[in-house]
Amino acid sequence: MQIQVLPHQHKILSSDKRFNLLVGGVGSGKSFAIGDLIVKFRHESKSNEIFIGANTHKQLRDSTVKAMTDRLLMYGFNESHYDYQENKGFFDFLGMRCYLRSLENIDKAVAGLTVDKMIIDEYAFCGRPNQSPMYIHKKIIQRLRGKNGVNQFYALTSPNGVNFLHDIWVTNKTDEHLLIKAKTKDNIFLPDGYYKSLVSAYGGEQTNLAKQELFGEFINLTESSVYYSFSEKNLANLKRQSGTVLIGLDFNVEPMCSVVAQYINGKFHIIDEIIIEQNADTYKWCHEAIKRGYGGALIYPDHTGGNRKTSGQSDFDILWNNGFQVVGTYNPIVFDRTNNVNRHLREVNVLIDNKCKWLREDLEKVVWKGGKLDQTTDKRRTHTSDALGYLLWAIDPIRHESKAEIIFD
Ligand SMILES: Nc1ncnc2c1ncn2[C@@H]1O[C@H](COP(=O)(O)OP(=O)(O)O)[C@@H](O)[C@H]1O
Ligand SMILES: [Mg+2]
Repeated sequence: MQIQVLPHQHKILSSDKRFNLLVGGVGSGKSFAIGDLIVKFRHESKSNEIFIGANTHKQLRDSTVKAMTDRLLMYGFNESHYDYQENKGFFDFLGMRCYLRSLENIDKAVAGLTVDKMIIDEYAFCGRPNQSPMYIHKKIIQRLRGKNGVNQFYALTSPNGVNFLHDIWVTNKTDEHLLIKAKTKDNIFLPDGYYKSLVSAYGGEQTNLAKQELFGEFINLTESSVYYSFSEKNLANLKRQSGTVLIGLDFNVEPMCSVVAQYINGKFHIIDEIIIEQNADTYKWCHEAIKRGYGGALIYPDHTGGNRKTSGQSDFDILWNNGFQVVGTYNPIVFDRTNNVNRHLREVNVLIDNKCKWLREDLEKVVWKGGKLDQTTDKRRTHTSDALGYLLWAIDPIRHESKAEIIFD
């Protein structure tokens, strides 16, 4: 098979710098380049000793080694050319020793090692409460002092915010440092439709999430607005029409939040919101919903915490016993749910009555914090937009056409 190398893979392979960082989008070809690197190191000298690390053991075993060996196979190297001893953490490639280590316990990972080359996959995700990434970095590079050639360090990773890598390779860059950037779409080997489905999952190419995940940029996502597609176009004066009432419901206790909708000509009309601010329980919620004339509605609830049992009956039982019908079956991952809400907002499939103040405030104010929805700064936030998200997902979710074909980390 003919070996083809993508331009950013070529750059990292041909670097003569000591500290090399390839930061790239998901599926841009980062882990694959590890296979190229070890072929190069073996070619330079069989005596090279190599450290191959990853943020977690799982990443290392399921993703890094898999990508690396897939790549070796393209060069014609199979199990007969290497000896992989997972338990001992060795990968001997044609007599060249590679130490495979997870960075979860850095002191253990590097104990007693001296190596010529270091390769780290998904480096941006290393670190834990008592071991900062910077501490890990210092510990690691102490071990880069082998005597068999030029000592070089290579990290390949998705960006994960503006972090220690940005400090080292951008802010405090020296002429020993090389930073290479790669976009997901630079990888011409990805299956058809894969990139398109990711773009739609991340809410378009312009979003901060897409800039990080697909363009490999260092982006501060922590305090960015979640529902960036919300605009005046989504606001209207609506009236209840004949036909079915649909309710998205979040069982949070203070406040318990729900949005009342009708699905008319392909558009979600959010005609009301029912918020129980204090000491909420499902009985109180049912009482209020029936009082407002929504008895018998279809309910699209949170399917995780929602079906808890308070006084013997589960929340779902209480809804059924009060004449509501519970529908929907599972919760999507949070990113999928929020992206789906943004998609419907952008396409103006969602119209929100002006009286729905809680929903409007959520759509304007909910932010990401540390990669999660910020539910702590203001306890009133997220639940009403979550409720909208459950409803929209159950009726019209994002479909990932080709995501199942290929797994990346
Ligand atoms: N140089 C290449 N030649 C052929 N296929 C490649 C090459 N680089 C990447 N690929 C393909 O792209 C997929 C994703 O690459 P990978 O390195 O796993 O991405 P990531 O950046 O997420 O680590 C690989 O599984 C492989 O199928
Ligand atoms: Mg990878």
